[in-house]
Amino acid sequence: MVTYVDADTAPLKNNGQIRLYGRDGFDAMHRAGQLAAACLDALADIVRPGVPTDVIDRFVYDFGAEHNALPATLGYRGYTKSTCTSINHVVCHGIPNEKPLKEGDIVNVDVTYVLDGWYGDSSRMYLVGEVKRAAERLVEVTYESLMRGIAVVKPGATTGDIGYAIQSFAEAERCSVVRDFCGHGVGRLFHDTPNILHYGNPGEGVELRPGMIFTIEPMINLGRPHVKVLSDGWTAVTRDRSLSAQFEHTVGVTETGCEIFTLSPRGYTCPPYPVGA
Ligand code: MF3
Ligand code: CO
Ligand code: CO
Repeated sequence: MVTYVDADTAPLKNNGQIRLYGRDGFDAMHRAGQLAAACLDALADIVRPGVPTDVIDRFVYDFGAEHNALPATLGYRGYTKSTCTSINHVVCHGIPNEKPLKEGDIVNVDVTYVLDGWYGDSSRMYLVGEVKRAAERLVEVTYESLMRGIAVVKPGATTGDIGYAIQSFAEAERCSVVRDFCGHGVGRLFHDTPNILHYGNPGEGVELRPGMIFTIEPMINLGRPHVKVLSDGWTAVTRDRSLSAQFEHTVGVTETGCEIFTLSPRGYTCPPYPVGA
């Protein structure tokens, strides 16, 4: 059986208990989440054909530095970059490099900032120039999958309800849900209990309670769900090389539903984003 603990008094390590945060925690997570979201907003003006992903990585680092925040991925389990950039058939954990983005690519940028010890974790898709309709449709299905998962979050619901909302929608759209990576508790730790699976059945899993904070971050494929990790130890790709997309929000369970900490300050939802000034 899962146990729930007061985040203000429990020891700060992942020991399988679920932390319940209070008002101060939610306020701090709002600040950290809004910083990640503001960075993702600014990237909409930067992601273009010809831009290498390590330029995106540098931007994420610099944007954080200007706001007294560090990227959580820097030095995390040997990862050496400030963000993950996952292009086309890359499912997640793509490592930024010097290769330019190409017209027609779809790319996920995943940003986690640590601000005053609090982790704000969010990712979005970007369309690089004009993309094929099938790719844009996958991006739309993935965004809608995330939002349907968020829509069921409230006290008394379960993690299985979230997974079911995502899986049933994505599969009805003839897409598949990646099983090998999941959402996670987050707050004063980067990856905490519980795991948030993006598939499942209503009523299964862990009951949601007010004060829980976690990410929902479905990875949805146009082809089959299976993935493999490349020899760099990080880059996860679809085994059938079909396109994959992902969006991620950090949310907190309230008395009546949830608060999304990582909503876009500019009101960006699903691309195409408005063309910058
Ligand atoms: N931000 C990712 C997540 O959503 C984690 C990236 S860990 C890294 O949980 F080391 F790959 F960067
Ligand atoms: Co995450
Ligand atoms: Co993330």
